[in-house]
Amino acid sequence: MDVYGLLGNPVGHSLSPPMHEAAYDELGLEARYVTFEPDEDDIEDAIAGADALGIAGLNVTIPFKQDALEIVAPEDLAARIGAVNTIDFSGSGPPTGYNTDAVGALRALRDHDVTIQDARAVVVGAGGAGRAVAFGLADAGATVAIANRTESKAHALAEEVPRATGHGLGDLKRLVTNADVVVNATSVGMESDATPVPADALHEDLAVLDAVYSPLETRLLRDAADAGATTVDGAWMLLYQGVEAFEIWTGRDAPVDAMNNALRSRL
Ligand code: ATR
Repeated sequence: MDVYGLLGNPVGHSLSPPMHEAAYDELGLEARYVTFEPDEDDIEDAIAGADALGIAGLNVTIPFKQDALEIVAPEDLAARIGAVNTIDFSGSGPPTGYNTDAVGALRALRDHDVTIQDARAVVVGAGGAGRAVAFGLADAGATVAIANRTESKAHALAEEVPRATGHGLGDLKRLVTNADVVVNATSVGMESDATPVPADALHEDLAVLDAVYSPLETRLLRDAADAGATTVDGAWMLLYQGVEAFEIWTGRDAPVDAMNNALRSRL
């Protein structure tokens, strides 16, 4: 029996257990996915303990993603993002840390036939999600404009991301008008029916990914659909970060449809 899990605090409402267990069921794997809520001070012991117990893999979420980077051997992309959300214990050396949020966003877009190479991309938000998405898009060959409410954070992030530029939200209308891809990596749209992107900048040659998945249908995505744009909701990003983790851990192609159904039936 392989044991996988999620380290975070809180993790009570996580959709990762049903999503991963749907994959194990679909492929007939003897595995379980469980959640762990260590105290903030105990994260190092928790990861070492998981390794000692033979746990096969862990996802890591708030507030431990940055701490985990210091404890495991991070892959290059995770190190540059500054956060680890997936740990693989299968090697003989120290556990390896990955950031599948970045690849999750790319795979969510590619699943909707969006080309990233040479795309003009706008990332709204320069927090944890914005960092992951900006590095992911840049690594995949996009030119990235980062726009953030606190403009200084966008400039700071743009210094780190190849070919990126930093902006305040006031530049969004111009940036989005000329863009191929827009990703909302802010929390705007989660609590209220608000959008960070001016609706009149949206157009039919645009693909819009909203990292917000609750609600699934945000005002940004409604505006984007009205403008004839390709829309990709936040459940796709959640799905593909999990798909990517599953594939790192098992070395097998994930049963994407089964995982997607498990996720969407709970959203
Ligand atoms: P996460 O890890 O989900 O990215 P975060 O690191 O707290 O969370 O980042 C939240 C992002 O949403 C930030 O880019 C934040 O902008 P600031 O850096 O200016 O705080 C953005 N954000 C949150 N509320 C916002 C709002 N009402 N309008 C615009 N941006 C907002």
